[in-house]
Amino acid sequence: MDDGNNTGLIRRQVLNLDQKDKSDEPEDVSRRNFFKFLGVTAIAAGGIASLRGVIQNIIPPVSNAVSGFPTLVLYSQAGVPIKTSDLQVNSPKIVLFDYPLQNEPNFLLRLGDSSNNDVEIKPTTVTIPATGKTFTSAGGVGPYKSVVASSAICQHLGCIPPIIHFYPPSSSSYPGKIHCNCHGSTYDPYKGFAVVTGPTVHPLPNTVLQYDSSSDQYSVTNMVGPTIYGHTSDLSGGNPLSSTKYTEISVTSPTS
Ligand code: FES
Repeated sequence: MDDGNNTGLIRRQVLNLDQKDKSDEPEDVSRRNFFKFLGVTAIAAGGIASLRGVIQNIIPPVSNAVSGFPTLVLYSQAGVPIKTSDLQVNSPKIVLFDYPLQNEPNFLLRLGDSSNNDVEIKPTTVTIPATGKTFTSAGGVGPYKSVVASSAICQHLGCIPPIIHFYPPSSSSYPGKIHCNCHGSTYDPYKGFAVVTGPTVHPLPNTVLQYDSSSDQYSVTNMVGPTIYGHTSDLSGGNPLSSTKYTEISVTSPTS
């Protein structure tokens, strides 16, 4: 834009100069105008260069975006694919994996009832309170359709585990819910990680899993629902994962 305007300004000055040259002005006046024109050109070029420098310092370069959601097998810390028996129903530990970019933790949950029997999680329609829009959660996978995943970054202001975590159905506080101790947001993993209480007005982005019954392996393939907190797109604003084949789980303990 600025380039165009300055060029237009310079062009207009050249035209004026030409017109004056064709008039009755003495030659030394035309020469002065010509040197003025050279000065304006130099100032304009310098101004554009420094403006470009300022813009480059203000706007970070768009980089590290990936072109699509990768399909990755979930690996244990031993470096092998996890099996259903590796996942404890209503685990009191926090099981996480990064997806779709580095340092973007996701919960991996095998959900059960208060007796720790697997509960089938059906696909459901989830409302986003902020917009009134809806999306369809994928539902559970695995032999009992009880394994689900979501972003573990709180949609209110971005707190991460262990401050935000799942409370098993037998827990005295927030039974069967994901609760963020930063400001009290609560989500329901049995219902597509929908908002139960604010201040969040966005459900947790759902992480789509796939189960291969022949190998008893789990893969992550996609995300649905709101964009991950702090990103304009799930696929940009961070570094790609180091492997294009797998993402490894980590296990940590809740703070309370
Ligand atoms: S960051 Fe989780 S409730 Fe505020």
